[in-house]
Amino acid sequence: MSAAPAAAPTLPLLVAHARAARAQAYAPYSRYAVGAAVLADDGRVFGGCNVENAVYGATVCAERVAVWAAVAAGARRLVALAVVTPNGGTPCGCCRQVLAEFGDADLAVAVAGPAGPFDVCRLGELLPRAWTRDDPGAGAAPSDA
Ligand code: THU
Repeated sequence: MSAAPAAAPTLPLLVAHARAARAQAYAPYSRYAVGAAVLADDGRVFGGCNVENAVYGATVCAERVAVWAAVAAGARRLVALAVVTPNGGTPCGCCRQVLAEFGDADLAVAVAGPAGPFDVCRLGELLPRAWTRDDPGAGAAPSDA
């Protein structure tokens, strides 16, 4: 949270936002309700919930809904995420990559269950050696490999 302004919500408050967002989860197929909240570098908080679909592949995770709400509102740098699941599960791989688009390795990730304490880790722990377009090998032609 080093890039967050002083007035930014603390991680416990971000978890509270995620728990509130989870109440809106649309998960009639999995019955696995997820809420998320992201903190932008300007102090704004955006929530999201998972939104499932009868075409299962069209389902979107809570984390990505929160990220997309942030980006759609003009945020580009995210400094923290809170995610609340039934069992304290961590973000899926796809969401980790999406977070890496808008956050650094030190982006704080608070992982919580529906109630009680939460764990904190960093995006860099969840997605070590993340691929980015700045990788030395990125864009190399097959003959350069
Ligand atoms: N889900 C999330 O919202 N976030 C995750 O990180 C993992 C999974 C949702 C997707 C689906 O609606 C349900 O949980 C079961 O996979």
